[in-house]
Amino acid sequence: MSKEENIKIHETAFVTSTFRAFDENLSQDFFAKLWQNSTTENWIKEYLDQVSSEETFTHCLRNRYFLDTIKDLIQNQQIEAVINFGSGFSMYPFLIDEKIVHIEIDKPEIINFKKSQIKEWQKKNKLPDRNIHFIGVDFSKDYKKELFTKIQSIKGNKSTFILIEGVLFFLSRKETNDLFNFFDSIQKKDDYIGSASFQETIKDTKAFQNLLDFFNKKVSKTTVSDYQTIENQYYQSKENYKLIDYQDYFSLSKKYENNINQSKELILNENFYLLKKTKKKPAANTV
Ligand SMILES: C[S@@+](CC[C@H](N)C(=O)[O-])C[C@H]1O[C@@H](n2cnc3c(N)ncnc32)[C@H](O)[C@@H]1O
Repeated sequence: MSKEENIKIHETAFVTSTFRAFDENLSQDFFAKLWQNSTTENWIKEYLDQVSSEETFTHCLRNRYFLDTIKDLIQNQQIEAVINFGSGFSMYPFLIDEKIVHIEIDKPEIINFKKSQIKEWQKKNKLPDRNIHFIGVDFSKDYKKELFTKIQSIKGNKSTFILIEGVLFFLSRKETNDLFNFFDSIQKKDDYIGSASFQETIKDTKAFQNLLDFFNKKVSKTTVSDYQTIENQYYQSKENYKLIDYQDYFSLSKKYENNINQSKELILNENFYLLKKTKKKPAANTV
């Protein structure tokens, strides 16, 4: 059975958005609540109780960090397009300046659902109009050539911010390497990548053990090795990119004055990276 079937990845997109809606002040995502539904809320109640009650705030701060980073870059005229890989139901397009071009990429079923929901909410004036392009892709398949052409035709020569959050945990290292090489092929010098991932030490925490138990009980059998972790070194040594910011739940809690309620053992501490492209990739090495 594939990992995607195991943990019903599409449900994780609802869960992430619902966490953001639970503390709008912290996440600054005022549209996440549109995705709320009773099935997800029941699921979340049990999750907060059995895995980690800190999860609402870890998710809110992740959104806040990337949202503020994107806003700053826009204000400093450093980016013109945001490309969100594994975009799920995140709502960045509606939280930032309307002149930005958005490319949202996720599995076809997620993308089609998001596209139709957004259209409906825009019709009902619950969401403002934005320049969004939706592309359905599975990162475990052979997507590069077609996706490259589609992205280039949308973004042209625009400077980009690529976001990949809440996704790498579920991918293999090969899929991850392929994605980062793909990012390099579509980005120009001075473009940015924002990435979120967990480090190996998370697997020693009670919170991670709880997560495994929860998935095993609720969804289906998974083991520690089904979840990818990534060390700082991976980002520090990315060819053609420089790591320019690094945060985690603890540093962001300080920055945004979030009270931490649980001990480290009971927190799924996520790490956040901001990379800037320093070199132009030679044309021969593209896709
Ligand atoms: C936890 S959600 C995070 C969504 C969004 N990035 C956010 O932070 O709100 C994980 C997302 O990754 C997507 N994803 C996971 N594996 C994928 C794959 N192989 N190809 C494309 N998308 C994938 C899922 O469909 C889901 O929307």
